[in-house]
Amino acid sequence: MEIERIKSGITGLDEILGGGIPKGHTVSVIGPFGTGKTTLAMQFINQGLLENENCFYLSLEEESESLMKTAEIFGFNFKKYYDEGKLKIFRLSPSDASDISSRIKEITEEFRENEIKRLVLDSASLLTMVFREDQDKRNVLFTLSKGLKDSGITSIFTGEIDLSNRQSSRDGLLEYVSDGVILLDMRKNDKNTETYLTIQVLKMRKIPHSRKIYPFEIKENGIEVQSEITLL
Ligand SMILES: Nc1ncnc2c1ncn2[C@@H]1O[C@H](COP(=O)(O)OP(=O)(O)O)[C@@H](O)[C@H]1O
Ligand SMILES: [Mg+2]
Repeated sequence: MEIERIKSGITGLDEILGGGIPKGHTVSVIGPFGTGKTTLAMQFINQGLLENENCFYLSLEEESESLMKTAEIFGFNFKKYYDEGKLKIFRLSPSDASDISSRIKEITEEFRENEIKRLVLDSASLLTMVFREDQDKRNVLFTLSKGLKDSGITSIFTGEIDLSNRQSSRDGLLEYVSDGVILLDMRKNDKNTETYLTIQVLKMRKIPHSRKIYPFEIKENGIEVQSEITLL
């Protein structure tokens, strides 16, 4: 059976995936800070808005005003869609820790009411950091991802990596709720004079895909993957 795909909006990434992200997947985008996770997530939302989909941005990092300003720098007109009600931005503050589980339930109820098609959680690492026990960390991720699955929403969860095992998320839990894992990383050239950004699809359920490492750049309109160049 042919799996339905949606466009990520990231030049080059859809080619690597053979046509886009499988619809309804939860995809983790993991990497160290400054590798473009937030940028990739915003670009994914921007693509949805351009396709007239209702989108949901769940942010633990930024207030909605600040997020809309960052988006504007890349030429993503979040403000317009936010004002029209097509883009929902939810700021979840880590300081509201005690309340977060009930907020997640409330948020998942909103998905269906608003016919949401795409969602971003930026970042899942900050969300799980709120809890001390692994059981609670796992619960919050499962509650959210179940709500997304039940509503057929395609989503991106961003996360930090474990610096001693760069192919895993920091708390090792994100992989379990994800249908796909994309790794963003940095590497130096041989002479140690330049740093490159790299992208690699580590896992994507239900489809064949490249596992090669590709270079990418963050340009004025967002991320561009050089899918014709592969690195070792
Ligand atoms: N307007 C821009 N043009 C080009 N590069 C940018 C721009 N804005 C941010 N960047 C690059 O993107 C990096 C931050 O990306 P971000 O998506 O916030 O990363 P992460 O979420 O992984 O920490 C910055 O360190 C900078 O190198
Ligand atoms: Mg970020």
